[in-house]
Amino acid sequence: MEATAELEAKVKQRPLPRHLGIIMDGNGRWAESKGRPRLEGHREGSTSVREITRCARRLGIKALTLYAFSAQNWSRPSEEVAGLMELLREYLFKERREILDNGIRLHAIGDLDKLPGLVRDPLDELRDVSADNRDMVLTLALSYGGREELLQAAKGLAEMMLRGEVTGHPTEAQFESLLWTQGLPPVDLIIRTSGEHRVSNFLLWQGAYAEYVFVDTLWPDFRAPQLLDALQVYQARERRFGLTGEQVKAAAS
Ligand code: FPP
Repeated sequence: MEATAELEAKVKQRPLPRHLGIIMDGNGRWAESKGRPRLEGHREGSTSVREITRCARRLGIKALTLYAFSAQNWSRPSEEVAGLMELLREYLFKERREILDNGIRLHAIGDLDKLPGLVRDPLDELRDVSADNRDMVLTLALSYGGREELLQAAKGLAEMMLRGEVTGHPTEAQFESLLWTQGLPPVDLIIRTSGEHRVSNFLLWQGAYAEYVFVDTLWPDFRAPQLLDALQVYQARERRFGLTGEQVKAAAS
C-alpha cells in the first residue's frame, strides 16, 4: 500500500467530493469477531469518526455527513441505545476543542427532539459556539431517517400551500428548503462500510445523483488509508447527471 501521506497528496490533486456522506456500518460485527461486547465496536467506531474527520478536513472536503444513529436504531436493545447515547455525549465533550480549533462547524440532522438531554444539551452548545466556523461542516445524522425527513418536508410544504405562501406548482428548490439538509451542498459521494449494499434510509432525496462506494471494511477498521482508497474509486468515475458520455466530455473540454 502506498504511504498515506503520498496517497493523500495524490488524492488531493484530483476533484474531491464537496459533500461526502458515510453510512458507518459494521461496529457490531467488528466487536463480535473479537468476542467483545457490541458497545466496544461502537467505541472503536468513534475513533474512526475522529480519524476520518481529520483526514477529510486535511483534504479540504467542505462537508462531511455521518450516519451516526438512525430513526430505526431506537428499536435496538435499550442497553445498546443507552451506550450509544453515552458515547455520543463523550464524543461531543472530547472533540469540542479539536472542532473549534480547526474551523469546523458542527451540525446535526434528524428528529433531534427525540435525543435525551445528555446528548441534546452538549450538541446544541457545540452547534452554537461553532456556528461561525467555515472550513468544514461536520453533520451528525442523529435519530435520522430519509423517509421521515421527506414526510416532514411534505407536511411543511402542504402547510405553506394552505397559508398561501406557496402558490402554483411547488419547485424543487422550495421543497429542498424544507429538508433538514437545507443549506448543505449536494452530496457527491456516499460511502457505506461493512460489505452491505443498501441505502438504509440515508439521504434519500439528496443521494439522487450521488456516487455510491461500498467497501467491505468494517467501520472501526475504516481509517485514512481506506478513505483515500474510496476517494480514488470516486475520482475514477464519470459523473453524467443523465447526460451522455460525449456531452460530459464536450462540457469538460
Ligand atoms: C452501525 O453498526 C453503526 C451504528 C448504528 C452506530 C454508529 C456509531 C458510531 C460510529 C460511534 C458513535 C458515533 C459518533 C459520531 C461518535 P452496527 O451496529 O449496525 O454494526 P453491525 O451491522 O455489524 O451489527
